[in-house]
Amino acid sequence: MHEDILQTLIEARYADGRALTEDEITGLILTIMFAGHHTSGVTFSWIAILLGQHPHIARRLVEEQRQILGDREQLTYDDLQQMKLLEGTIKEALRLFPPIHLVMRRVLKEFDFGGYHVPREEDKKSPYGHIAFGAGRHRCMGIVFAQLQLRALWSHLLRHFEFELLESSYPVDYTNLIAGPTPPCRIRYRRV
Ligand code: HEM
Repeated sequence: MHEDILQTLIEARYADGRALTEDEITGLILTIMFAGHHTSGVTFSWIAILLGQHPHIARRLVEEQRQILGDREQLTYDDLQQMKLLEGTIKEALRLFPPIHLVMRRVLKEFDFGGYHVPREEDKKSPYGHIAFGAGRHRCMGIVFAQLQLRALWSHLLRHFEFELLESSYPVDYTNLIAGPTPPCRIRYRRV
C-alpha cells in the first residue's frame, strides 16, 4: 500500500461506509493543487521583493543561515525549526501581502467564543492581524507545509544567491483571485 494522498482518498470512507466517487476525488486533488501552488508562488515573490527593499534584513538572514548550517548543504527538519528570523520574515510577508485577499464569509450573528466577543459585521480589522491562512473550520490545510517549504527554498537561496530589484515599485495586482506583484516585476539574481 502506498501512503500518498491519492491512495488515502481512494481508501477513505465516509461515516456511512460510502467510498468517495471519482468526481469527488478529482475535485479534492484539484483543490489541493490549486490552493497550494499559486499562493506559495506569490508569497515567494513578495519575500524576494521585500528582501530587496530591506537589505539589512537579508544580511541578518544570511547570518542566521551561517550560524545554523555552517558549511552544511543538507537541510533537516530541526534546522528549519531553528530559523526563527526566516520564519518571522515569511510571516511578515504574509501579513503585509496575503495572497488570498478576499474570503467570502460574513459573521451574520454576533456571538461569544473562548472569552472573545465576535461582532456581527467584519468591521474590526487590525493592521497587525495575521489572517493570510484564513481562520476557523476551513482554515488553510497547508499552513504548516507552506511555511516549511518557503523556509527550505529561502534557506537555499539566501546561502547561494544575491538579489537586486529592477523596478522602482512593485504594486499589488488585485485583479486576480491571488494577489501578486503587478508585472513586470523583474528581479536580478546572481550566484555568490
Ligand atoms: C503561502 C501559501 C498559502 C496561503 C497564503 C494559503 C491561504 C489559504 C486561505 C486564505 C484559505 C481559505 C481559508 C478560509 O476559508 O478561512 C486556504 C484554504 C485551503 N488551503 Fe491554503 N494557502 C497556502 C498554501 C496551501 C498549500 C501548500 C496547500 C496544500 C498543500 C493548501 C491547501 C488548502 C486547502 C485544501 C484549503 C481549503 C480548506 C477548507 O476549505 O477546509 N494551501 N488557504
